[in-house]
Amino acid sequence: MNTEIGSAVDFYERHPISLEIILTRLKAERGHLDSVAPEELFPHDQDHYGGLAANDALAERAQITKGSRVADFCAGLGGPARYLAHRYGADVTGIELTPARVRGAEELTRLLGLESNVRVIQGNVMEVPLPDGCMDAVVSQEALLHVPNKGRALAEAFRILKPGGRIAFTDWVAHRPLSEADKELMWQGMAVSDLYDLQTYAELIKKAGFTVYSVEDLTPDWGNILKQRLAMYKKLREETQKAGAPAGHDAFYESYVRFVDLVKDAVLGGGRFAGEKPR
Ligand SMILES: C[S@@+](CC[C@H](N)C(=O)[O-])C[C@H]1O[C@@H](n2cnc3c(N)ncnc32)[C@H](O)[C@@H]1O
Repeated sequence: MNTEIGSAVDFYERHPISLEIILTRLKAERGHLDSVAPEELFPHDQDHYGGLAANDALAERAQITKGSRVADFCAGLGGPARYLAHRYGADVTGIELTPARVRGAEELTRLLGLESNVRVIQGNVMEVPLPDGCMDAVVSQEALLHVPNKGRALAEAFRILKPGGRIAFTDWVAHRPLSEADKELMWQGMAVSDLYDLQTYAELIKKAGFTVYSVEDLTPDWGNILKQRLAMYKKLREETQKAGAPAGHDAFYESYVRFVDLVKDAVLGGGRFAGEKPR
């Protein structure tokens, strides 16, 4: 594995939101893990900003309906994949690089009994282990920031979509170039690769062959969400430190604090993009 994607794996093998944390929270809330309803898990398993509404926004733009075959790029613990299956009746295949995330996704999917509609397979979105033209939609929530060659991932999305298939995703964007020091901090703390501004990103999507039909700036929405996230990470950090577990996340925390500031100053932010593979 090359070092660039290896860093993302290292980061997510130790990420503060893990399968164990999710199960601990669920147990604390309901006393046991029998017959967990999707609505009980969804507040805990979505590792992106904007929660379930952010998934609805992608579903709408990707025209996901009952029976749609959907690939979720960088599926994480499978939160968006399970939601799309449960809420829309889609059949979802997640592609996820980090083995611990793949195992976590499998366990959480089993917990909800959604195994026949959701599977998360281990793989790299720059080399997707799926055949050409097999999907109606490709979605991704806030993850391509880790992917060193986003053009390659978009080309893979294009390849696995059938003609007329849709792509809809969110990602970090850089409205202005980062200083070298901030680039290094984001890389060391959160395995963040190169970022683009909204316009450049849209060009990249076009270059992969898609017709781009919407580009949305999510930066103002993210400002408020991030303040809450930072408070949540701070609490988690204190909890893990108290429990005697190695916090091991100082670089993450430091970079996250800076990230929140950079979004407040609209240097970094979020974008939502949607497009179609021409028929
Ligand atoms: C911020 S998490 C998002 C997870 C999920 N989309 C969600 O919203 O809950 C980013 C995920 O991308 C995965 N990832 C990073 N690089 C990848 C790659 N090249 N191919 C597949 N997955 C990757 C990470 O392992 C991590 O689980």
